[in-house]
Amino acid sequence: MDIDHTQFSFEVQATDGLARAGILTTPHGDIKTPVFMPVGTQATVKAMKPEDVDALGAQIVLSNTYHLYLRPGVEIVAKAGGLHKFMRWPKPILTDSGGFQVFSLASRREVLDEGVRFRSHIDGSEHLFTPENVIKYQEFLGADIIMAFDECAPYPADKSYVKEAMERTHRWLERCIASKTRPDQALFGIVQGGIWLDLREESALFVSSMDLPGYGIGGLSVGEDKEQMLEALSVVTAILPMDKPRYLMGVGSPEDLLNGIALGVDMFDCVLPTRNARNGALLVPTGRLNIRNAQFKEDFTPIQEDCDCYTCSNFTRAYLHHLFRAEELLAYTLATTHNLRFLVRLMDGAREAILKGEFEDYRQQFLAGFQPPDP
Ligand code: GUN
Ligand code: ZN
Repeated sequence: MDIDHTQFSFEVQATDGLARAGILTTPHGDIKTPVFMPVGTQATVKAMKPEDVDALGAQIVLSNTYHLYLRPGVEIVAKAGGLHKFMRWPKPILTDSGGFQVFSLASRREVLDEGVRFRSHIDGSEHLFTPENVIKYQEFLGADIIMAFDECAPYPADKSYVKEAMERTHRWLERCIASKTRPDQALFGIVQGGIWLDLREESALFVSSMDLPGYGIGGLSVGEDKEQMLEALSVVTAILPMDKPRYLMGVGSPEDLLNGIALGVDMFDCVLPTRNARNGALLVPTGRLNIRNAQFKEDFTPIQEDCDCYTCSNFTRAYLHHLFRAEELLAYTLATTHNLRFLVRLMDGAREAILKGEFEDYRQQFLAGFQPPDP
């Protein structure tokens, strides 16, 4: 079934080079793009109350079909009134299809044209994901944006295998489209093709031809070099329709966000900012600082002097250092709050710069000061 265009739309408000500032309208509200989506795998952004995720400026969160299908079960979420009510997040939600988790988490998986047979990473029970049932499960969950079932080939992999996975992803996309029934959910197709530019081109052309409300770009940031990722990405964004949102899946380091925006990406998600926060790796304009280091023991300044987040407004590096060393639970909340706010501000700044026609300066200035971690 098609979508209800009164509930979904995307408007590009300004472009600056290939970068775009836009507004994505969904049944649970508007999203200003470019946007970073915090990850709430288990229907919770770890360590955070939804109202605090909202307060730090997040506009949409991502959750995972694979996890919620296995636990608590999509019927439970449906009985609760859907994912928005269940997790008490009234704003937009995107669910990933499981086409990535099934390949990275599940054990003893078997890829068939019908779908993927796999064993749960929780209890070893056997399951089958197909394009049809994954759409059905995402309809139970009720997110605003749902993703097609795809196969993300590993890296490195033979080109012949990556091509097969891409072609299977294309066949699965047609089945996803055919089985979709809810008009209040937007289905995004996913471009695959690994690092091979001819495959990326073929996939972008095929997926674009499906005339969907948005497009995911998958299979990147899985171990390839940054240059390979950006080259593959540039081939894809050059082909995808200009008037639809592009979502680079699983990518969320500050440098990748700005480089992705520069190539025309509108949406991103990544577990790293929140996962790193729980390991004490905090984002600052010069790079990452590990708050557990002894140098912060008597540092009574905020994590970041000019950050307006709840953590930086109220607590010192010395206090966070103490919380992490003592393994106090508040450490995770305060660190996650800061890292997410850092990315929200980075994206707000990017959007403003695009609207002013100054994005390239903004990107260069940020990257000149920011030291990425060693690969
Ligand atoms: N998350 C990160 N990469 C991918 C991908 O290739 N496919 C899906 N479905 N999710 C992802
Ligand atoms: Zn802060």
